[in-house]
Amino acid sequence: MHIDIITVLPELLESPFSHSIMKRARDKGLLQVEVHHLRQWAVNEYGQVDDYQYGGGAGMVMMCEPLAKAIETLSQQRKYDEIIYMTPDGERFNQSIANQLSLKENLLVICGHYKGIDERIREHFVTREISIGDYVLSGGELAAAIVVDAIGRLLPGVLNDETSALMDSFQDNLLAPPVYTRPADFRGWKVPDILLSGDPKKVEDWRYEQSLQRTKERRPDLL
Ligand code: 6GU
Repeated sequence: MHIDIITVLPELLESPFSHSIMKRARDKGLLQVEVHHLRQWAVNEYGQVDDYQYGGGAGMVMMCEPLAKAIETLSQQRKYDEIIYMTPDGERFNQSIANQLSLKENLLVICGHYKGIDERIREHFVTREISIGDYVLSGGELAAAIVVDAIGRLLPGVLNDETSALMDSFQDNLLAPPVYTRPADFRGWKVPDILLSGDPKKVEDWRYEQSLQRTKERRPDLL
């Protein structure tokens, strides 16, 4: 999968994809992430990409021209399955959207800043608008990093047995069961006997039961 990201703050997107599972996905060639600085499509030599909003009011708006040029230039190199705009008024991101997007070949992600982007870009280029939750961030970059991380780890071959996504919270609309590691007794706090029983069927049933109970208690809305 190839993901292009358009931003005015490329520095914010360097570290998130350079470690751990995301790094492995990129090293294995399963995921390519390219971050593009919007300034290269600025309207003048001062690097301007934003302007005051019509109708007045505080806050700058990201201009049509740099964004249109960026989208059109990148679209010549790749046919995008989705052009995604990160915005707090978008569709709320969840595991199901991550699963859907992980099946795509090429994604373009636009990070908004300031008051957001000119509405005409949303109308004429953007195919999907995503929010990561009901709170406001200062820009779309951290939200984009979260979306790319959630998608990237689902790509076939990225996770191995040890990091398998199958037992993740949300993958069956259930929260993940509790997990334990050595020692079996820490300060008298014991690991549940079933996990030490060596009976895979019993362990599986116990985990499912725990998932169900945990979901009922903490997130009944998922059931
Ligand atoms: Cl995608 N962007 C911004 N700026 N704030 C957010 C968000 C996105 N999702 C939740 N809050």
